[in-house]
Amino acid sequence: TYKRIGIVGAGNMGTMMSLGFAEQGLDVSLWDISNENVSQAINMAKEAQEKEKLLKGKIEGFRDIHDFANSMKGDKPAVYIFSITHGKPADSVMEKIWDYLTEGDIILDGGNEHYRNTERRQKALASENVHWVGMGVSGGYQSARRGPSMSPGGNKEAIEKVLPLLEKFAAKDPKSEKPCVAYIGPRGAGHFVKMVHNGIENGMLSTISEAWSIMHKSLRMPYDEIGEVFKKWDSTGELRDTYLVQIGSEICRTRKTPSGDKKGEGAGTAGFVLDDVLDKVVQDDDNSEGTGYWTVSEAALRHVAAPTIATGHFLRVASGNRDQRLRVAENLKILDNIPVPQEATQNIKKAFLEDLRRAVYASFLCSFCQGLELIARASKDESWDIDLGTCIRIWRAGCIIQAGHIADMLEPVFHSDNAQEQPIMNIKLIDEVSSVLHENFQPLKNVVLKAMEWDNYVPSLSASLEYVKYAGGTMLPTQFMEAEMDYFGAHSYDRPHANGEDPGKTEKGAHHYEWKPA
Ligand code: 6PG
Repeated sequence: TYKRIGIVGAGNMGTMMSLGFAEQGLDVSLWDISNENVSQAINMAKEAQEKEKLLKGKIEGFRDIHDFANSMKGDKPAVYIFSITHGKPADSVMEKIWDYLTEGDIILDGGNEHYRNTERRQKALASENVHWVGMGVSGGYQSARRGPSMSPGGNKEAIEKVLPLLEKFAAKDPKSEKPCVAYIGPRGAGHFVKMVHNGIENGMLSTISEAWSIMHKSLRMPYDEIGEVFKKWDSTGELRDTYLVQIGSEICRTRKTPSGDKKGEGAGTAGFVLDDVLDKVVQDDDNSEGTGYWTVSEAALRHVAAPTIATGHFLRVASGNRDQRLRVAENLKILDNIPVPQEATQNIKKAFLEDLRRAVYASFLCSFCQGLELIARASKDESWDIDLGTCIRIWRAGCIIQAGHIADMLEPVFHSDNAQEQPIMNIKLIDEVSSVLHENFQPLKNVVLKAMEWDNYVPSLSASLEYVKYAGGTMLPTQFMEAEMDYFGAHSYDRPHANGEDPGKTEKGAHHYEWKPA
């Protein structure tokens, strides 16, 4: 058993993890490139201890990385958690600490790293018999203290050694009390799963924001009332125990208090906090890459249709460049200049809100389908052998995409005794999933139609609607695309089966037609 853990990175996550592990009784060595971050973390630990007296282990802050590394010498093999920015910062710390690492040491990289970088570091350190584990950590800084959901991937034996430690620290599924952490697979599998978690998160975030916008801007519902609707959705039915809906309800009901604004800069105390929040969501610090972007590129690379996830990401990208958006708005003079009608009477509103709830559910499920299919595809391509049921299990608590009903529906499909031997590559072939998509298709369509009429925004809801349509369409407009391509590029085409009995079968063979004889 480990008595000490080394944490690299004293940002929000690293600080909260230090507190969390100290609460478990471990001594913590903490280092960050910024001395100020270390001091702040140590002060926070002191305050927390004075207030709650929960820390059983000591937290020691280090300004010098060599002193930090030396502090780990007594507990060999050592275990470290990195909570730092992906890419170069992680490489530079790895270099700095390299000489202090000895056989059997384990580094859990808890940042949102690209799985190829993880695999590169794993290879580099393997010669020293040091294990680099790519570990997704989800749940934001509050979960980092109270228990996150974690997806470690890498050397199995190494992960099994630290698993008891992680299980103690992880969030627990309230029903089964099982910890939300498990060995995911070899090499970059853990970071890949966390990347996809964030992709699903983007699809869900976009969907819930669109629902909020419809309620607020078209149904003209005040924040409080929307908060009540979200609260109801989260408490019962298919959207129950969905984290993003639950915090949505709190956001809608939060009024400003002087102590809430952490910058303390004249936010005032009247009204809702939400009114102070601009519509601009950036990706990472420099608005460049990150898990959202990686998920979309992986989906494209591996030929997995993931439109809800992609659209959620692109909405975010467009939102991030606010200056340009305002200039375009000037030129376009559409949407925002048209008054949004207050359409619904109370009676219609009630029925519409039920449609909206079901549309949100369907769109959340579409995000899950797309994300799980991407994991299944990558797992097969990379021979990771990831168990999708395990992914769903560790997403039951602690993380951002927790969705109680969806997890209850999906986990048994993979974990029941009659679970299929062959990995499921297409989630929409699961009966439970297809019947949900079938039952909620009409409500989803109603919502998209109405929102379009009201000039409201439905990028993800409409992407989900089209996804359901084309993922299960029997004759798509691509019939014409194929003809066009054959015309201009002799692309060739398959023909419908000659006897026409089985529309799923095509008569193989490269047919080409000379549409315009030379
Ligand atoms: C989580 C979150 C967390 C966070 C990312 C998103 O699971 O706790 O996904 O990792 O949301 O910081 O960051 P991007 O700005 O890179 O999407």
